[in-house]
Amino acid sequence: MSSARVSDALYRYHFPLDSKVVVRATTGLEQLVATEVTAAGHSVEGVSKRQINVSPAAGSILTRPPRLADDAFAVAAQVPDPGPGRVPLWESADSLGQVGRAWVGPPTFAVSASFVGRRNYSRFDIEDAVGRALSRQGIGSYVSRRNGGVPPRDAAPWRVTLDGSTMYVGLRPFPAPLHRRPWRARTVPGSLHPPVAAAMARLAGIDSHHTVVDPCCGAGTILIEAHMCAPAAGFVGRDIAPSAIAIARHNSGGRPIEWKRGDASACDVPPHSVDRIITNPPWGIRQRAGDLATFLTEWHRVIRPDGLLVVLLDEAQERVMIRRRDWALTATYPLSVAGRHPRIFLAVPR
Ligand SMILES: C[S@@+](CC[C@H](N)C(=O)[O-])C[C@H]1O[C@@H](n2cnc3c(N)ncnc32)[C@H](O)[C@@H]1O
Repeated sequence: MSSARVSDALYRYHFPLDSKVVVRATTGLEQLVATEVTAAGHSVEGVSKRQINVSPAAGSILTRPPRLADDAFAVAAQVPDPGPGRVPLWESADSLGQVGRAWVGPPTFAVSASFVGRRNYSRFDIEDAVGRALSRQGIGSYVSRRNGGVPPRDAAPWRVTLDGSTMYVGLRPFPAPLHRRPWRARTVPGSLHPPVAAAMARLAGIDSHHTVVDPCCGAGTILIEAHMCAPAAGFVGRDIAPSAIAIARHNSGGRPIEWKRGDASACDVPPHSVDRIITNPPWGIRQRAGDLATFLTEWHRVIRPDGLLVVLLDEAQERVMIRRRDWALTATYPLSVAGRHPRIFLAVPR
């Protein structure tokens, strides 16, 4: 059978070209990820909570994975979701069938599982059931994460998802989940999940002639992801904390992004000179949500009349945004991230 090779420093596997791919997403970003996947020429077969099932065009989704995705894996086997019972779980794992020689990797492997719905078992039970079943097939030696077990760095990363109708078992062809960006060496408290930053950049619709500002840039996540999305635009990052500016500069490597210390309530730019503000200000946990009102007044001063604000706000801040008469909301995207339920707001100046 013809196959595609996906390789990096740790793994070299051959995947049958007709392998289905499961793409994992942050809750709330599923449709945006599906749109990105479709725009890249792949067929989306289904979208459910945190998951997009894809029939890829010539395996290229694994060599150029979607930036808005949390993770992706090539499906080696699928069986009906066993439902809530433990015994059906073991039976399902035993019924996976041979995953085939194309899937053989390093001598050890790990399994990480996710599921939706109520179950009478934990993710560790799923991982152990599938891990032991695959081990019996001779694909390698299974290392369990139960009781704090840590698989070796080069263990093959098998994935299992139970989406309520199907149990998918497959292999992630990358050494780390997609959301873990190689460029992000350092973070600040409140640093943004990179796929959310990539989604905000995508929603901003950046043109090559645009000036894009993040006035609370932290570790630089939003502007670095935005630069990858639209490299010809101009990018300006500001933060009140000098340490954050140093971290953003370090993370951005040689990218042409201007980083400078500055206060989001007194931006050092002329009125109506900014095309896009994309930002995630402090969430009112360590700093008062009320600060947002001052920021919004200043951002209204600097944004062009045809400009756009893309801002991620926590629940406490939403009320401040919704009450504003100088900003008109054009869209909101509710998310579930880091145990909280913020929303991406898109707003234009009135
Ligand atoms: C939630 S963090 C931003 C995280 C960033 N998106 C990232 O991924 O690292 C908020 C940032 O706003 C900065 N900040 C707080 N008050 C500010 C102000 N008045 N002006 C500018 N930056 C401010 C904090 O120093 C912090 O780095």
